[in-house]
Amino acid sequence: MITLPQYPNLYLIDHPLIKRDLSILRKKKTSNVVFRTVLFRLTKMIAYEVASNLKLTESDIETPLEKTKGYQLKEDIILVPILRAGLGMADGFLDLLPDAKVGHVGLYRNEETLEPVDYYSKFPRNLKDSLVFLLDPMLATGGSASAAISFIKQKGGRKVRLVNLVAAPEGVDKVSREHDDVAIFAAHLDRGLNENGFILPGLGDAGDRVFGTE
Ligand code: PRP
Repeated sequence: MITLPQYPNLYLIDHPLIKRDLSILRKKKTSNVVFRTVLFRLTKMIAYEVASNLKLTESDIETPLEKTKGYQLKEDIILVPILRAGLGMADGFLDLLPDAKVGHVGLYRNEETLEPVDYYSKFPRNLKDSLVFLLDPMLATGGSASAAISFIKQKGGRKVRLVNLVAAPEGVDKVSREHDDVAIFAAHLDRGLNENGFILPGLGDAGDRVFGTE
């Protein structure tokens, strides 16, 4: 993973297959079907990378031949996709972390103020002791992610990692400023935001492209 001195909380995942798949998602001609399929594949690779420093516990196990040491994940994991677009990342994570519980937080951006508006939230028990992966393909102004992290913390969550496909510097700054305990993982740090708060070059509106509502 790549880190940059000006964004100490940001971890950029660097892998040729991730670059290839992100390019497919960026293309405007990519259909909804292909977008969903590639998003699933790409998210699995991101989950694999993000899981690389999970803690393990050891226990004795028996192979058909003899005893040896086995390993289990130490921490309970909760995935929290930010509705809607984050839903497109949940299955990729669940494929690699099938024991994870899933919480939901529903936020949309008021398109004039760009402020997040919450419309739904439901979290599993044991938020306090679990490691939370907050999922959203896009980190633009950072308003949605920062509000979602605040919700999770209000409900008792203490260990949160944010996982994005594309992040804008503005969003990284905001989340880092408001939640300096939260590591941000992204497949790419994009150039910035346009006057409508869209990420450039970005990939358009991920929620619309996942669900065909554009
Ligand atoms: C998009 C995206 C993030 C948010 C990013 O959601 O999925 O949740 O905007 O913007 P921000 O960093 O400026 O808050 P959108 O509001 O389009 O809702 P959707 O997921 O329902 O499409």
